[in-house]
Amino acid sequence: MTGLRRVEPRDLDFLESEFDSVEAAGRYGWFGFRDRGHFANRLEAGETLTVDRGVLTIVDNDDKAVGTLSWIKVFRQPPPGGGCWNLGIWIGPDHRGKGHGTEAQRLGAAYLFDHTQMERVEASTEADNIAEQRALERAGFTREGVLRRACFRGGAWRDMVMYSKLRSEEPRTE
Ligand SMILES: CC(C)(COP(=O)(O)OP(=O)(O)OC[C@H]1O[C@@H](n2cnc3c(N)ncnc32)[C@H](O)[C@@H]1OP(=O)(O)O)[C@@H](O)C(=O)NCCC(=O)NCCS
Repeated sequence: MTGLRRVEPRDLDFLESEFDSVEAAGRYGWFGFRDRGHFANRLEAGETLTVDRGVLTIVDNDDKAVGTLSWIKVFRQPPPGGGCWNLGIWIGPDHRGKGHGTEAQRLGAAYLFDHTQMERVEASTEADNIAEQRALERAGFTREGVLRRACFRGGAWRDMVMYSKLRSEEPRTE
């Protein structure tokens, strides 16, 4: 089973390891090194969850960290209207392919629809990142189209595929 909870100090070593190497980040998530302290500083400053962005720890059955789910507000028209959430995800190398990515993105969209008034949660990924596209589709996101040469990674510009889920597409449990 997969869950989401606040980032806690005991998660930090694992979460910071995302920025250690291409193997840790994953080929499509490697944008170079980041200083150690990326998450520790945010946690210490009380800034893991703000009005414009957030990050939660993805956990397994034993409440052990397996990755992060993050979101940031982006605007599709001049602010203040047209805001939506853009999701990002990282699953640690030992925990990939076990369903955590799918379930975390499903839970993340539900969380954001529950606790914010946004109409749209979107996520984009490189056109070659089949695992993330499958995960988004299984999590109930709809493929919208291709953003040509929208991402620079590994010395080249890459096409991105855009997905979204709307509030009306979120199954309600109440
Ligand atoms: C991409 C990622 C989030 C997917 O999460 P995951 O927990 O590994 O994936 P899941 O177990 O939920 O599987 C999702 C689907 O992807 C498929 N999949 C998993 N690894 C795959 C791979 N290497 N190649 C092709 N498909 C793959 C699974 O089979 C499943 O599809 P299915 O239902 O058709 O069987 C995760 O692997 C990851 O964090 N990778 C590194 C960083 C990254 O790419 N982040 C996204 C950047 S936008």
